[in-house]
Amino acid sequence: MSSQSQIRVADAPALVEAAGLLAAGKLVAFPTETVYGLGADATNGEAVAGIYAAKERPSFNPLIAHVADLEAARGLGQFNADALALASAFWPGPLTLVVPVATGCPVSSLARAGLDSLGLRVPDHPVALGLLRAFGAPVAAPSANRSGRVSPTTAAHVAEDLGERVGMILDGGPTTVGVESTIVSCLEDLPRVLRPGGVAREEIERVLGRALPQEDAPSEALLAPGMMASHYAPRARVRLDAKYAQPGEAVLDFAAPMQAADEAPRRNLSPAGNLAEAAANLFAHLRALDETGAGCIAVAPLPTHGLGEAINDRLKRAAAPR
Ligand code: TXA
Ligand code: MG
Repeated sequence: MSSQSQIRVADAPALVEAAGLLAAGKLVAFPTETVYGLGADATNGEAVAGIYAAKERPSFNPLIAHVADLEAARGLGQFNADALALASAFWPGPLTLVVPVATGCPVSSLARAGLDSLGLRVPDHPVALGLLRAFGAPVAAPSANRSGRVSPTTAAHVAEDLGERVGMILDGGPTTVGVESTIVSCLEDLPRVLRPGGVAREEIERVLGRALPQEDAPSEALLAPGMMASHYAPRARVRLDAKYAQPGEAVLDFAAPMQAADEAPRRNLSPAGNLAEAAANLFAHLRALDETGAGCIAVAPLPTHGLGEAINDRLKRAAAPR
């Protein structure tokens, strides 16, 4: 069976079939507004183990449990006032809340990597929500790529990376946000951003009515283990803040194109300099440039405000030594 053959247009019959596969302990890849997820029944430890195996992911890395609405989320985790305010403001949407696990929470401890906290998210995508409603239980889902590789923003990316390891890939077209959810921990009095993502820090601070401390990513290694320095790595080396491209380099522009040799393969994250468009294009453009076989990708400087924080974070990880 070719890896493309699991890709299914996400119509109603496909959603029912996909929910059946989840109930049988199989893996289903599905689109969210951020990136494609590799889903399994979060309450089934064996099914969750299948995610770690397919991704070749270190098993100490906890997974996000996806649910259809806040009510379902409150059955799994304990929401303090900040968590409630953030959930009300941004769900469904690209925000993951880390909260203390509720007593009797059915999410398998393997999905939580043994932690007594839980990452919860209500995705803003008709296919993801349709699947969650059809299945009726939490779905554990990391990004549907092999561990350490660029996250998938199309069904074809998932097929390339995971192929026959997935029971079905629901195709909902390219994702719109393009970077993963922002992860906010609500375990202590002061919420903390563990991973910048699709909801800008400024928007979170506005809802909370106070500023959140800026933290260095490396110190988060234990709190959000997925934040390893060399996450999101293409095969090519990545050179950041490039003003012009050197011979042989592929080019990732933002806004005005940088100077390069005529034949350099190049993509522009957003010719208009729009950060939302840049986020949506980021992973697909990195993949496309990587596939040209160039040894290095020269990346233009990007603004650091708003969604720029998440984009720069992913680029820094892609450029980290490995
Ligand atoms: O946009 C997204 O968040 C996508 C889509 C599929 O929803 N998912 C995603 O999952 O990016 P993943 O597994 O690639 O990243 C999840 C991150 C990891 O860094 C993990 O360590 C962190 O969430 N995480 C999950 N549960 C946690 C917990 N209880 N405490 C701290 N960090 C947690
Ligand atoms: Mg990931």
